[in-house]
Amino acid sequence: MTEDRNGITSGALSPEEKAVDVSLRPRALGEFIGQNANKEQLRIFIEAARKRKDVLDHVLLSGPPGLGKTTLASIIANELGVNTRATSGPALERQGDLAAILTNLEAGEVFFIDEIHRMPRTVEEILYPAMEDFKIDIIIGKGPGARSVRLEIPRFTLIGATTRVGLMTGPLLTRFGVSMRLDYYPVNEMEYIVKRAAGILGIEIDEGGCHEIARRSRGTPRVANRLLRRVRDYAEVEADRVITEDVAHGAMAMLQVDSVGLDVLDQAILSAIIDKFSGGPVGLKTLASAVGEETDTLEEVYEPYLMQIGFLKRTPRGRVATPRAFKHLGHEMVEGTGELLF
Ligand SMILES: Nc1ncnc2c1ncn2[C@@H]1O[C@H](COP(=O)(O)OP(=O)(O)OP(=O)(O)O)[C@@H](O)[C@H]1O
Ligand SMILES: [Mg+2]
Repeated sequence: MTEDRNGITSGALSPEEKAVDVSLRPRALGEFIGQNANKEQLRIFIEAARKRKDVLDHVLLSGPPGLGKTTLASIIANELGVNTRATSGPALERQGDLAAILTNLEAGEVFFIDEIHRMPRTVEEILYPAMEDFKIDIIIGKGPGARSVRLEIPRFTLIGATTRVGLMTGPLLTRFGVSMRLDYYPVNEMEYIVKRAAGILGIEIDEGGCHEIARRSRGTPRVANRLLRRVRDYAEVEADRVITEDVAHGAMAMLQVDSVGLDVLDQAILSAIIDKFSGGPVGLKTLASAVGEETDTLEEVYEPYLMQIGFLKRTPRGRVATPRAFKHLGHEMVEGTGELLF
């Protein structure tokens, strides 16, 4: 996969980007823009836990990449005034890895597991009694002499984050007392996010420029932060620094981000379905190989947004481009037949 194909929407974060990501991360609930219903619930649960001097119930945060799951997890710990231990599902390879962390937690701490859907099943089993009773069962010894010992661990709050809640098992899901889904942000909230980030990074931007970046950021704060920095580069070289609507327009053309915020890979996905597979249905694997991308990336990063804006449908027989997608790419479809007029 080439850098310019996934530079805006997905792709690994560079070290510079990681640093900026951290500097732009809101630290308190009040600084976190949008997701109001979730924020209100969290505010109450956090306050109640503090009043009772008890741990907050385990929290699961799910939703597409870049919407603020990791950010919210650290905000929750900040608001509780406790430390966080962080790891990720794939890093927990053996039961012992998880048992070691759990037994070393301090009372009240937040234990954050990113990509929790990728934790191996055998490791996951350790979590069940840990979450429910703050106990773990560990096996001592090997072979016929092995025995299981139940250990008490400190009371803690598990925060799990996942982009794929559908891949999680029932037993794990039911052990979270609080489960929150983050959704794509509406344009007015994205405008606040762009404005806030520009303020922190010292970027000059007017209302028009702000709106233009907000509406092309696929409802995703991480994409907005990336676009803002690339548009700033453009503004510094091609204009007089200030990001106006016109400057943002020019920059988007250069970045190949289209009028609704689709990047080159989004466009490639839709074109492939329409031109190579007559609008679909086409299987995920076939589609992924047609655009030279991983199936996981399509499913986790690209498809959710294309579905959200009504350009793509998942059907039992495969992916289908909607009439709206045909129209967007400049095709007319003969209604109901899936055949192209041109
Ligand atoms: N509500 C928000 N207000 C302001 N900035 C936000 C908000 N949500 C996310 N951001 C910004 O977007 C960036 C990405 O957020 P974050 O890393 O929390 O996403 P994520 O959901 O954990 O993504 P992933 O699934 O890829 O791990 C952060 O740097 C943060 O600055
Ligand atoms: Mg994250």
